[in-house]
Amino acid sequence: MALGNRGRGRWEQIQDSLRNNEQGHVLQFFEQLGEEERLELLQQVEKVDYVALRREVLRLWRPSGAGFIFKPASCTQLASTPAEKEHWRRAEELGRTAIASGHVAVITVAGGQATRLGFDHSKGMFPITPVKGKSLFQLFAEKIHAWERRCGRDIFWLILSSPTNHRETCDFFSKNGNFGLRQVHIFPQGVLPSLDRDGRLILEKKNAVAMHPDGHGGLLEALGRSGLLPMLRENGVEHLSYFQVDNPLAMPIDPAFIGFHIQQQSQFSSRCVVKKYAAEKVGVFVESDGRLRVVEYMDLSAECSCAQDASGRLRFGWANVAIHLFSLDFLEPFCHDCGWQVLPFHLSQKKIPYLNGAGHLVRPVEANGFKLERFIFDLLPRAERALLLEGRREEMFSPVKNAAGLDSVETSQRDQVRQFAEWLSKGRVDLSRDDSGLPPFFLEISPLFADTMEEFLQKWAEMPIKPAVGANFYLE
Ligand code: UTP
Repeated sequence: MALGNRGRGRWEQIQDSLRNNEQGHVLQFFEQLGEEERLELLQQVEKVDYVALRREVLRLWRPSGAGFIFKPASCTQLASTPAEKEHWRRAEELGRTAIASGHVAVITVAGGQATRLGFDHSKGMFPITPVKGKSLFQLFAEKIHAWERRCGRDIFWLILSSPTNHRETCDFFSKNGNFGLRQVHIFPQGVLPSLDRDGRLILEKKNAVAMHPDGHGGLLEALGRSGLLPMLRENGVEHLSYFQVDNPLAMPIDPAFIGFHIQQQSQFSSRCVVKKYAAEKVGVFVESDGRLRVVEYMDLSAECSCAQDASGRLRFGWANVAIHLFSLDFLEPFCHDCGWQVLPFHLSQKKIPYLNGAGHLVRPVEANGFKLERFIFDLLPRAERALLLEGRREEMFSPVKNAAGLDSVETSQRDQVRQFAEWLSKGRVDLSRDDSGLPPFFLEISPLFADTMEEFLQKWAEMPIKPAVGANFYLE
């Protein structure tokens, strides 16, 4: 298609609109472009609501200061009394029945850019298990497959990709035979333009502006567009179990959590863990206007972060680990007819490569602009019935965000090893471990053998001859 006479009015209008809305710089190399390239640029820009997004950036970048009043969130805590243990046991039983009846599907968000990790592929392809180096995708596939074997039925696994990594993600799964799963459904999220500090589009090529995935909240729009919701309904799915692809300790299917969610007819449930220390950079759950919601760490005052109750616990100490359950009835309306627009935009400062006046690509060393994103947890205050359930950090949260340091490949592999070492020790294997519970070597237990300590202990006890545990021990 060329910029022929028929389309000329429309294309000229876009150029006029760009010039009239502080975006004329997008056309600075227009004269150097061929017809095809001009068309590419105009078609891309046409899909972008740069006027509204600029307004949003300027509003968020200079916040009005208006906050909201909140108080500590109430949470169903881990069981300590016999009555509480019985309560958890009953919830787990209910959860298992729902899973076995096909009422639960899994949804994983894997559309992020993994910039901090510095990984150029889909983050789910990152090798993460300590001995075998299995990818995050394979690890979760095995966890899901373990449940399929238990229940004797397929479990639907929905994976959010991005336009950039969609093809690669699909290829990875098909090359690996979907890791033995029959119901893997990968669907791409949308994109938004990156903007500079004045809310202007950023040229990354002479014929393209810089774009980025629209945040894990983009899940809603993408799910509506994917056409997968009717398929889930037809197959009797009532709840979606959500986690992020970069947390290898996440349990895609968590029966006690599912049981509590069903028991309390919750629309949006979340697992949480106790914050490690007051200044830990995690979002926390709070209550405001009778609704649960998440406040990001940078929006929590130092005073609130440090506040303690009478027993010395942090008052705002329930950390968000991005493990949620949604009832489909609750979620679905937000996936259609722009329902996702109830999610506000969040702004994060980024280093965004741009073309300089000479047309050369510059990679800035300092943040020069913003990424606008929607976050799924902002749906939480929309739920009339919500539930917060405590979990143990060492059993469910060790994200891989950075190449080194905090929340890195190293910390996450150690946390996996620590968990397996704990299981083996409980199974009476004589393992020397340091004060943090880490043995002197790496070991790994596949979810296909066991994905909880209870299951491990049972299977381990049943093994007539137990394998020797040493460096690079692997059990499947
Ligand atoms: P993060 O924002 O923590 O990680 O996303 P990231 O985008 O992968 O990495 P950075 O920020 O560029 O370093 C948390 C989870 O949400 C998913 C990610 O794939 C990850 O599982 N996510 C994030 C999406 O699916 N889409 C997005 O637009 C953003």
